[in-house]
Amino acid sequence: MHKTIAQILQQEEFSKKDLISLLSADNTETELIFKKAAEVKSAYVGNSTYFRGLIELSNICTKNCFYCGIRRGNKKVERYTVPDDEVIQAAKYALDRHWGSVVIQSGERQDKEFTDRIEHLLKEISGLTGEKPGITLSLGEQKPEVYERWLAAGATRYLVRIETSNRDLFYKIHPKDGLHDFDKRIRALYDLQKAGYMTGTGVMIGLPFQTTEDLADDLIFMKELDIDMCGMGPYIEHEDTPLYEYKDLLLPLEERYRLTLKMIAILRIYMKDVNIASATALQAINPDGREEGIRVGANVIMPNITPVKYHASYNLYKGKPQIVPETDEYINNLERQIAMAGDVVGYGDKGDPKHFAKRNKK
Ligand code: 5AD
Ligand code: SF4
Repeated sequence: MHKTIAQILQQEEFSKKDLISLLSADNTETELIFKKAAEVKSAYVGNSTYFRGLIELSNICTKNCFYCGIRRGNKKVERYTVPDDEVIQAAKYALDRHWGSVVIQSGERQDKEFTDRIEHLLKEISGLTGEKPGITLSLGEQKPEVYERWLAAGATRYLVRIETSNRDLFYKIHPKDGLHDFDKRIRALYDLQKAGYMTGTGVMIGLPFQTTEDLADDLIFMKELDIDMCGMGPYIEHEDTPLYEYKDLLLPLEERYRLTLKMIAILRIYMKDVNIASATALQAINPDGREEGIRVGANVIMPNITPVKYHASYNLYKGKPQIVPETDEYINNLERQIAMAGDVVGYGDKGDPKHFAKRNKK
């Protein structure tokens, strides 16, 4: 018997076939999915949206991912590193405003100068407040010893996106060399969990060659790995990258956008108590994108607090919002939009993923 979307949404468990049906729902049915996701969010994680101040530390990267505008091979990018004092100042901006945490993101480097510098910055940021602040790292794959050192220096969460859980697709969007290795990426997620981090992953949605089945597998992958946090966004082509060649295979931007909202909503229903970020890439397609993400199940927004002079050089994808500095006025506006989406901003609360506490009791 063919199940309707409404019937599937009444279930507690979802098969791969159910996930594919949900992902294939038409616009009317999708509203049911969004409604259910909002209910699950309310019941399991509450109606707080947490701000994470995002610091794009450096666009220097040793990797060469085929989709990314700051890949090593893109010679058109002016490379920068935000100096320590500006990083500290940005972190202070977020912590003074009682945001739950800061996120340090950067192109991937494993050299000692870099790993030492991060350790130093972590100690400095940890010392900014009386209580230990939430610090999330998004610095790619590292050796287990490095994860441990950074944890000891004050980091508590770590994000490594798997990008796609389909091994073949992974190698279509990354060079096939030792540096870009699907198994190493999965290993990184296990290493991080073992080290004791709240661990996050995510995928890109609307990649060339990606199927609905792949997206269902991505959801299953996240559940099987028992991740605590997820950040996923639409793939947006960048003309100075090799993957741009396949731009004619892509879904229209608006569809990639809708599909991303669906993935957020389905993940909320499927995993219930994880933290889900409403990705900046949503905002690149629709100015209200991040707020819509909140309405359909996400509970984290990462305002960019990198000093503005660096913004233009951190172009992972085309049309990345060159936001007027995320100033007080911008934040006030964001608060209003979050209120319209039915949430309040979780000031003064680190907003640790509820899933993490549960995972550790198991
Ligand atoms: N479109 C969307 N997201 C991208 N990322 C990198 N390049 C793109 C792109 N062209 C995402 C990847 C990476 C994160 C830092 O940014 O998922 O993990
Ligand atoms: Fe580097 Fe990350 Fe871009 Fe890959 S996606 S090239 S690792 S910044």
